[in-house]
Amino acid sequence: MDQQYSIYRLHAKVRQMEEFLDLDAVLRGDKNTPEQIMEYYRINHPMYRMFHSQDGFMHFRVSLKGVFTDEDVYYQPDFISKEIHPGDKVLELGAGQGSNLIYLAHCNPQAKFCGVDLQPRKRDDIPSNARLFQQNYSDLHMFRDNTFDVVYGIETIVHSTDKEQVLREVFRVMKPGGKLIVYDYSLNAEFETFDEEIRKSIALVSKGGAAAVIESTASWNKHFANTGFKLTHYADLSRYTLPDLRHLSGKPTYVMNHPALAKALFAVLPTQFMNNFILGYLGYDTVNSGVIAYSEWVYRKP
Ligand SMILES: C[S@@+](CC[C@H](N)C(=O)[O-])C[C@H]1O[C@@H](n2cnc3c(N)ncnc32)[C@H](O)[C@@H]1O
Repeated sequence: MDQQYSIYRLHAKVRQMEEFLDLDAVLRGDKNTPEQIMEYYRINHPMYRMFHSQDGFMHFRVSLKGVFTDEDVYYQPDFISKEIHPGDKVLELGAGQGSNLIYLAHCNPQAKFCGVDLQPRKRDDIPSNARLFQQNYSDLHMFRDNTFDVVYGIETIVHSTDKEQVLREVFRVMKPGGKLIVYDYSLNAEFETFDEEIRKSIALVSKGGAAAVIESTASWNKHFANTGFKLTHYADLSRYTLPDLRHLSGKPTYVMNHPALAKALFAVLPTQFMNNFILGYLGYDTVNSGVIAYSEWVYRKP
């Protein structure tokens, strides 16, 4: 679908939702504190299992062929696996339900894995070369300086309002020459440069996923540079996420196109659950319009 048409659709969708939802109330809501992020994932856990991946992956599929297949959920861990060598120590930031960690630990039996997440551990099938800790990654005090060869985070640092604090901690625990691989969302221009409806769409999408307001790619790059990392690889994967975003937009679109139903659901279901619905409704158009990008970054600690 044409980029300009997606911009038109974002305007139309925001105006349409304003007729039956108090979007300002959605936007005011709670800040994305660690407690609020945990609550978001607690409430939305069954939905992630049902609509995202029954294996517990909580990231978007990267469909290089432009067609949705369930297997595309392995794109990110398969890319990361190529950077891991026998004997390496690997850390996952925001490991979620542990699915990437478990998959990579099986694929790389001679490497050792640690994962941290705010959420309590839900699985007992963690292989012996992996450990999962309940820990905020803004504070990695349990790990010594220069410990890890590879650190990765898939769609998690976007939650943080202080990305440089996270990256400083990551830099500290990484060995010199170590690699940091990040998959995340950014804006293709500064937030203030978009018109009011697009700014609302960005804020609603961010809020819908309990993220901080999504920052521009330039701002992300500044955070990496300020904390000492050197870029070794970058790929804009935005268009390859569109099949999954379209797939996930089906039910939210149905609900939003029936205002009475949407109003009723917003009245009875938890706010964080319905905010996620708004993310599903707007997500495809925010990426297809070129407003939001999905990036693959590889950085090196010199
Ligand atoms: C979208 S999920 C992605 C999970 C996993 N990376 C995956 O690909 O399936 C984001 C995860 O980041 C975690 N997270 C967010 N902020 C965090 C923080 N400050 N410290 C640790 N984990 C955090 C959330 O609890 C959530 O499990």
